[in-house]
Amino acid sequence: MPMVCLTDYEDYAREHLPKATWDYYAAGADECCTRDDNLLAYKRIRLRPRMLRNVSVTDTRTTILGSEVSCPVGIAPTAFHCLAWPEGELSTARASEAMKICYITSTYSTCSVEEIAAAAPNGLRWFQLYVYRNRKLSEQLIQRVEKLGFKALVLTVDVPYPGKRREDIRNNFKLPPHLKVKNLDSSFEESNSPEEYGVPVQTLDPSISWKDIHWLQSVTHLPIVIKGILTKEDAELAVEHGVQGIIVSNHGGRQLDGAPATIDALSEIVDTVQGRIEVYLDGGIRTGCDVLKALALGAKCVFIGRPVVWGLSYKGEEGVRDILQILNDEFRLSMALSGCRDVTEVNSSLIQMSRL
Ligand code: LAC
Repeated sequence: MPMVCLTDYEDYAREHLPKATWDYYAAGADECCTRDDNLLAYKRIRLRPRMLRNVSVTDTRTTILGSEVSCPVGIAPTAFHCLAWPEGELSTARASEAMKICYITSTYSTCSVEEIAAAAPNGLRWFQLYVYRNRKLSEQLIQRVEKLGFKALVLTVDVPYPGKRREDIRNNFKLPPHLKVKNLDSSFEESNSPEEYGVPVQTLDPSISWKDIHWLQSVTHLPIVIKGILTKEDAELAVEHGVQGIIVSNHGGRQLDGAPATIDALSEIVDTVQGRIEVYLDGGIRTGCDVLKALALGAKCVFIGRPVVWGLSYKGEEGVRDILQILNDEFRLSMALSGCRDVTEVNSSLIQMSRL
């Protein structure tokens, strides 16, 4: 059977990954209402396609923070890619380089940032980070990724504590001993920090506040993108604090169950930001039509998380390329069928009024 859509890769991953690994990636917090709503919310949105607009040539390219990408779909940070495929993040990096899209590398990678940069030296990479109690650890990581040519820092702000994921608790999910969070490897000896997923990482700092944005700006020259914003109030604060972008995200529904679907939270944020900084979105993107809807509602680019892991589990780099190609092809077709020749023509007039 040919693989034709992202859910085919999901089915493959569900059948072939070890149960605890599948459960970890699939996990949502508590009753998984937010995780599931991320997908369902797209299905409630209807489009207003325009006809007779000569769509013989279509162009899916766009820019994010000044860098050109082939398509407004990037790779969201997800942890532990070596659990899904032996070469893990190296394969993810090569696929994103080949497809000319942005790869947000997770702090919780099972390959080091040096290895990832070397595997795909010309790829566009941003680096996701947390603020650790030990600020020096965060600073060291920032210096490493700056040197390696990462183009932006993506600060995750929705994990003062990890959400409660029931299956992970039942499975006592831990990273197997042969895998490591290599980016934090050198801090292992000196730290006696508690474990997360069996990884002795320095603990995340739950006291993190807006003040820390200024701290972050003082230790980097890179643009800062805040990931995990869901309200207009926080979007305004993000602009006031001088960051360059926002990712509207609920962490794939893995943190606060009851948070809104990201596509439902997007409009109030876009309305507040008024183009002052770029607004992106992750969570629930499964088709090119979902990408079209997110762009029509004001996202500059979307990022996909779990589908990348499914692609990896299928065929490593090739599997990730497949899912990116499928989304790109579907997005191009949805654009054409709604009368858009390029992404500048994708706007809110495509969305049925009852939504706005
Ligand atoms: C998670 C953390 C690693 O959601 O971001 O599992």
